Amino acid sequence: MNEGRLFSEDRIQETMLGPLWARAKYSKLYPEFLDDPKAREIIAKIDYDFSEIENHLGEWRGLGLLARAKNFDNAFKRFIKDFPEATLINIGAGLDTTFSRVDNSKIKCYNLDLPEAAQYRKKLIPDTDRNKTLAKSAFDYDWFNEIEFEIGKGIFFIAGGFVYYFTKEKIKDLLISMANYFMGGYMIFDATSKLANKIINRRAKKAGEDDIRFHFGVGNPERTFSQWSSKIELKEWYTMWSKIEIDSEWHEKTIKAIKRSEKVKAAKIIHLKFIN
Ligand SMILES: C[S@@+](CC[C@H](N)C(=O)[O-])C[C@H]1O[C@@H](n2cnc3c(N)ncnc32)[C@H](O)[C@@H]1O
Repeated sequence: MNEGRLFSEDRIQETMLGPLWARAKYSKLYPEFLDDPKAREIIAKIDYDFSEIENHLGEWRGLGLLARAKNFDNAFKRFIKDFPEATLINIGAGLDTTFSRVDNSKIKCYNLDLPEAAQYRKKLIPDTDRNKTLAKSAFDYDWFNEIEFEIGKGIFFIAGGFVYYFTKEKIKDLLISMANYFMGGYMIFDATSKLANKIINRRAKKAGEDDIRFHFGVGNPERTFSQWSSKIELKEWYTMWSKIEIDSEWHEKTIKAIKRSEKVKAAKIIHLKFIN
């Protein structure tokens, strides 16, 4: 039996299924790119027809979701060399399995999502002492108080597939509030360009799915984040695929699409530091 729609209130919560599907499918095919047995274990428990997601994403968007995860994992693995007892906070976690890929048996992780999505996540990934789900909107800043952390031990935020669903004003307010509260913290997230957002929204409209729109787009990261607050420092940014090795086994169409998207810097990885 197919569960059909998983969430009653808000279709945005359903967007968690695409990255899960991609990591389950392509980590099996290309484990040397990203190995994610936990994603495969979870997807096996979900009664849902993933064919629409498969058609929509295809290989290049699917691999793009692995590229995002790999970029985040690499950054966090570097971070825990210096801060092995760090706190990791996953904003808009969905069914993300970062914790299981990067765990060094000392880190703590909080996975934040909207209440219905968080409840669903908890059923599939039950809380443990070091890996918990928080049922709160990222924009309800009460969640700050629920994070137990020691700044000296390191605090690191990831937000994959998140910022573009919201307006620039909302993201700006969130990041400024985080920078003021979590001074000394680090953050990594992916962002799309303004042109990419236009194209994605046009494609969604054509497919009759324009209830989920892409809003915030990032042109030049150097002229964006640090100008929002003196407490936000842009540490680094790069395009999605610039640190990933292209595998000649991937479809020719996939490789062409990656090159096209890199040329126009359609997807970026942004690292910020919240200055003390
Ligand atoms: C595209 S999915 C990404 C999931 C996950 N980061 C991944 O890469 O697998 C977006 C996620 O953001 C969550 N989300 C949407 N609005 C949110 C909000 N206001 N606060 C926290 N999470 C939110 C959705 O429920 C969904 O799980």
